[in-house]
Amino acid sequence: MMGHRRLLPPASSATTVPPALLLVSSFMASLLLANTPAAAQVARDASGGGCSGNASPPPSTQQQQQLWVFGDSYADTGNLGDLGRELTHAWYDPYGASFPGRPTGRFSDGRVLTDFIASAMGMPTPVAYKLRRGAPRGLLARGMNFAVGGAGVLDTGNFQRNISAQIDLFQAQRPACSAAGHTAGIAAVVVSGNDYSYAADKDNSTSAAIAYIPTVVRQLREQLRRLRDDLGMRKVVVTNLHPIGCTPLFTRALNYSGCDPLANVGAAQHNAALRAVLAALDPANRTFLLLDVNAPFAAVVDAVAAETFAEPRRPCCESFSAGGHCGEQDGDGKRLYALCDDPSKHFYWDEVHPTQAAWAAVAETLRPKIHEFLLST
Ligand SMILES: *[C@@H]1O[C@H](CO)[C@@H](O)[C@H](O)[C@H]1NC(C)=O
Ligand SMILES: *[C@@H]1O[C@H](CO)[C@@H](O)[C@H](O)[C@H]1NC(C)=O
Ligand SMILES: *[C@@H]1O[C@H](CO)[C@@H](O)[C@H](O)[C@H]1NC(C)=O
Ligand SMILES: *[C@@H]1O[C@H](CO)[C@@H](O)[C@H](O)[C@H]1NC(C)=O
Repeated sequence: MMGHRRLLPPASSATTVPPALLLVSSFMASLLLANTPAAAQVARDASGGGCSGNASPPPSTQQQQQLWVFGDSYADTGNLGDLGRELTHAWYDPYGASFPGRPTGRFSDGRVLTDFIASAMGMPTPVAYKLRRGAPRGLLARGMNFAVGGAGVLDTGNFQRNISAQIDLFQAQRPACSAAGHTAGIAAVVVSGNDYSYAADKDNSTSAAIAYIPTVVRQLREQLRRLRDDLGMRKVVVTNLHPIGCTPLFTRALNYSGCDPLANVGAAQHNAALRAVLAALDPANRTFLLLDVNAPFAAVVDAVAAETFAEPRRPCCESFSAGGHCGEQDGDGKRLYALCDDPSKHFYWDEVHPTQAAWAAVAETLRPKIHEFLLST
């Protein structure tokens, strides 16, 4: 998700960003994110890892493991370029205030899901594709993050690379990996709902988003199949949808007192369809692991009494107006948002994205499953 894109529309649709603005941002972003000759250099640099080997290394040789990340703003670590405060909030204060102390393009006060998945795998956070120039060689050999804020499985009107285009980019860089079965690669696929936001915006209805579920999941299935069968990923972890109706985007109108049930039903339907897809693709659970982020989110944000976060639904960074955004300023540079004292007390950082503390708590519930899965053959 990009900060200014909604996942699914709240009952009132007053917060829509003018289409022209989106178009400009997205068009510029597509230029900035376009493939360049430097990518070929990265391919050479990065192919020092497991790709030239003749067999998959045993899972215990963690030195050889590579993590490739595909997805949206829940996983983006800098791929959405800095196009100005209005368009790319994650590159401006107060984003990044908790970690590393300045904005880095992460949609949070600090670390995001990618950082915690890597950590659970005992690996460094993979370099963001956009920040690959000047990244240490050793790090480039450990994988790369292609996830970008605003992306979907299909096109979302944000002109960000959809999942299949992100995988194309990976493939273009790693020709040696195109034969199945010869990579140490682990892939993470993080899809958090931009497709549904797009569908809902187009029709001004959550039900339009729900009707779109089979299309999105069918395409997601094809991309997951491709990662295993065509690209030889040894393991693929894939997240399900969080309870979208509990994001501040939906709950602000209720003074954060409860969630939007229909949007949560939509997320649950997507998740059921995704489970069925994985069961059909991989009945023995050898390659794919469903990372259930929905349950740990729901345990906090959709619970009657959550004990872990003092503020389960109210975001730490809250724009003054419902149509505004975290980090918004007026012409004189005056803040148009309120910032909490302690982000770790809040589950949500901005109108759609969790705090670092929230991601840490969610990842803690996933860590044992990730460990067990990576050690399985
Ligand atoms: C993904 O993006 C590519 C490149 O823009 C486009 O050709 C393709 O049709 C898109 N795929 C889907 C499933 O929307
Ligand atoms: C969108 O739907 C809401 C609720 O159904 C309605 O109040 C609003 O007027 C609609 N907006 C547009 C632009 O159709
Ligand atoms: C919103 O909820 C807070 C408590 O969480 C309360 O202090 C405040 O008065 C409420 N605002 C409105 C407009 O009801
Ligand atoms: C595969 O995982 C699913 C979901 O966690 C589980 O329901 C199923 O029993 C597993 N199948 C096998 C063969 O372990």
